[in-house]
Amino acid sequence: MTLEEKNQNDIIYNELINSYEIEYIFNNEPINRFTKPNKSSNKSELLSSLKEKILNIENCNLKKNAKQIVFSDGDQNSSVMLVGEGPGQKEDEQGKPFVGDAGILLDKMLTAIKVSRNDIYITNVVNYRPPDNRKPESSEIIRYSNYLREHISIIDPKILILMGSTAMESLCGSKIKISKERGNWREIIINNKSYLTMITFHPAYLLRQEDQKKYSWADLKEIKKKIIEFKLNI
Ligand code: URA
Repeated sequence: MTLEEKNQNDIIYNELINSYEIEYIFNNEPINRFTKPNKSSNKSELLSSLKEKILNIENCNLKKNAKQIVFSDGDQNSSVMLVGEGPGQKEDEQGKPFVGDAGILLDKMLTAIKVSRNDIYITNVVNYRPPDNRKPESSEIIRYSNYLREHISIIDPKILILMGSTAMESLCGSKIKISKERGNWREIIINNKSYLTMITFHPAYLLRQEDQKKYSWADLKEIKKKIIEFKLNI
């Protein structure tokens, strides 16, 4: 094992420990499901500081091999936040999530429920393109899940959409299967706050498995129903 690998593992181990919801487990206070965290803080500043942290990440094979960071796209004040897997080649070149083939399909899916991508907030589990478009490894998913959790807390959406098994693994662990979990509303607790979440298939998967689009359509209709029920302005 090289010294560099050892350092990377140490960092990942520490970050894994920090990623446990210790506060949630040991705090006697009830979970606050209603008030907004960071209410008085400035979202743009918090987002810039999170981006800076990700830009300064060390000993990361993803960052080492990528052209640039792919942080987010869309409206930071939106009540709908969507999380994908990670940048591909086009995203790496343009510094923007979901601009390749999967992005084109995502835009069509959103249009089908009369939602514009500019009206939601989009990010990924990992913010640098994995080499050769491979799936992020579990250790990378765990490491970046700290940043993703912070990202979600800052945006503070009313509806969180996790697209694909990597996004699901990042926030729900690796023991569950997306084919069983998709399509149901669930609450995910992040930094002591509960977020209404829909897990659904990733557009890149749908491009390979056209016969699964019917499930994705059912999920999209559920999301639209909730947007109407909550009277969200998107
Ligand atoms: N797939 C993703 O998960 N995210 C992107 O940004 C592009 C493709």
